[in-house]
Amino acid sequence: MFMDNNVLKAIESAQTTQELEDIRIKAFGKKGSITELFALLKTFDESTKKIKARELNILKATIEKALQAKKDILSTQELAQKLKDEKIDMSLFKPNIKGSHHPVMLTLEHIINYFISMNFTLRRGPLIEDDFHNFQALNIAENHPARDMQDTFYFQDGKVLRTHTSPVQIRTMEQEAPPIRMICPGAVFRCDYDLTHTPMFHQVEGLVVDKEGKVSFANLKYILEDFLRFVFGEVKVRFRSSFFPFTEPSAEVDMSCIFCDAHGCRVCSHTGWLEVLGCGVVDENVFKAVNYQNVSGYAFGLGVERFAMLMYGVNDLRSFFESDLRVLEQFS
Ligand code: PHE
Repeated sequence: MFMDNNVLKAIESAQTTQELEDIRIKAFGKKGSITELFALLKTFDESTKKIKARELNILKATIEKALQAKKDILSTQELAQKLKDEKIDMSLFKPNIKGSHHPVMLTLEHIINYFISMNFTLRRGPLIEDDFHNFQALNIAENHPARDMQDTFYFQDGKVLRTHTSPVQIRTMEQEAPPIRMICPGAVFRCDYDLTHTPMFHQVEGLVVDKEGKVSFANLKYILEDFLRFVFGEVKVRFRSSFFPFTEPSAEVDMSCIFCDAHGCRVCSHTGWLEVLGCGVVDENVFKAVNYQNVSGYAFGLGVERFAMLMYGVNDLRSFFESDLRVLEQFS
């Protein structure tokens, strides 16, 4: 009778499923010990062959059973060990670093607080805009050179990543009747990248509309001066005549340089003034585009990152978006 105690002993003392697999191959592989015993069968005469074959099949079944039983034990052990080894120790991630607000968001919050205190409400609009809302309704006709003021990301279907928050003026007037007193904070996009420009930045738009004659440039002037003093302290403010297609008259707003007290320095290009806002009285054509009649209004727009740079004395805009903790931690 064939007996292969060696195989059974080896199975008994195997420590891993891999060892067990090696044993199985040594027994049942092409040149395995049991395979070879089967090959020997043909050397026996017919009647002996029958007996030996039965014995051999029993041996084969015994070994297979032993292999399976041991495999069950070892793989259960290995799984348990694996689970133990790969357990995620959540305590390792206990945050040693405290999260903090991003400086741009801190600045935005500060700006919003002022306007909320002055009875403005918050509005939002889509980041992907159509040509009508981003340009046409704002009195920027197709092929008008004013389009060149904004380097635009176009989609193939003609839509754009909004280049300013002004389209939300249009969307608000389309949906609501006057009077309107809103600000709209949000991301805007332009194909630009240097020390003072990033492809994505934030603006705050403002729009006030009421019955004709009720809102004037004087109101605009008061609000913006008061706002700038709220953010920067006792600054001088001047309105410089400018052009925007959607306001008439239009102005850029400058404030006295907070770094040199208006004496002239690198930040203000030795002029003593810092440009901080665009604004104006809403153009008639904008009201026409949204079917508003017998109203007047003013609008303004500012860049939040520009304010953040001035508030915190940061000279490279890009450092806000590089996620360098050494920079961002300073604002926690
Ligand atoms: N939308 C203008 C810009 O992005 C800013 C602006 C808004 C100017 C509202 C006037 C009135 O440059």
